[in-house]
Amino acid sequence: LPEQPPEKLSHLADMVSSLPSKMEVNLGVRVYCYQGFWLPDNWVVAAIAMQRGFKARPDDVIVASLPKCGTTWLNALAFATMARHTYPPAAASHPLRRLNPHQCLPFLEGLFATGQEAMLDTLPSPRLMNTHMPLTMLPNTVLTTAAATEGGGCSGCRVIYICREPKDIVVSFWHYFQQSVPSVTLAETFEAFCDGAKIFGPFWDHILNYWRASTACPDNVLFLRYEELLRDPTSNVRKLAQFVGLPFSDAEEEVGVVDTIVKLCSLDNLRSLETNRTGYVDKRMNLRRETLFRKGIAGDWINHITPEMARRLDDIVAQKLGTMGLIF
Ligand code: A3P
Repeated sequence: LPEQPPEKLSHLADMVSSLPSKMEVNLGVRVYCYQGFWLPDNWVVAAIAMQRGFKARPDDVIVASLPKCGTTWLNALAFATMARHTYPPAAASHPLRRLNPHQCLPFLEGLFATGQEAMLDTLPSPRLMNTHMPLTMLPNTVLTTAAATEGGGCSGCRVIYICREPKDIVVSFWHYFQQSVPSVTLAETFEAFCDGAKIFGPFWDHILNYWRASTACPDNVLFLRYEELLRDPTSNVRKLAQFVGLPFSDAEEEVGVVDTIVKLCSLDNLRSLETNRTGYVDKRMNLRRETLFRKGIAGDWINHITPEMARRLDDIVAQKLGTMGLIF
């Protein structure tokens, strides 16, 4: 979370403080309900700046997710796949061997919240970027994909979204943010998650917006699932490469480039690297990089969530997402 919005956006502070707000217990900050989503004040400012100022290019690729859905992994896979001609995945000097995956692509709201968005104009095409923002917070040039759900055509850039079983999201979220506010219990985290008032929540609307866009515009929005990525990473990496217009050639397949990318980005490899064993994602919030790589499995919720809690969350998911064909 950036500490201060840039000077040119400080006039938005009054508007933000007038929005409905709640405490985000895990982050220890207030979140404000802006256009139906709960964001810390500086992220509201970033969302407005992005909606107004982000100029998408047709060949842009944006990795989007809720926190704790496998963002780090997908960032690594997308970067390794898209940059493979510049950085062969087997090379000892590959950026992912010396940088955390989040350092390999720009984080949109982080740039817009701090007034550093001009750097995006300096990036060569095709650009690869990352966001946790809901689809509706992305600028119009990206939003044309969502508008297509109303019957229009599909245009705009490409978005790769990753979602995850909600019970595993909440468990992963709780573990991760215990570094920031250790006193918060899983029960408190769970309550807020079910209420929807968590950062970038409600989770159901975040998932639903991208899901709808992916069904309306499959060429623009690729909807991936963490569990599927675990089950069959190679097929999903091929799908990703095809989606971004860079399918693997026969020659690449023959020498095993897909497997090399999957191994490079595997949990065991990433967590073993010095860059990921040290340093912080956010020093002020005490979020250490090594905690981005925890268990990396599907179904860990069973070790933390009671059957009653599971039923309650399953009911919410069935009610909010089940009717749209989204089943976990
Ligand atoms: P767990 O906490 O359940 O282990 P995000 O990157 O969006 O913050 O998501 C973090 C989750 O993705 C964590 O889940 C983490 O262990 C898992 N993860 C991170 N890197 C991974 C990888 N290379 N392969 C599989 N899972 C990974």
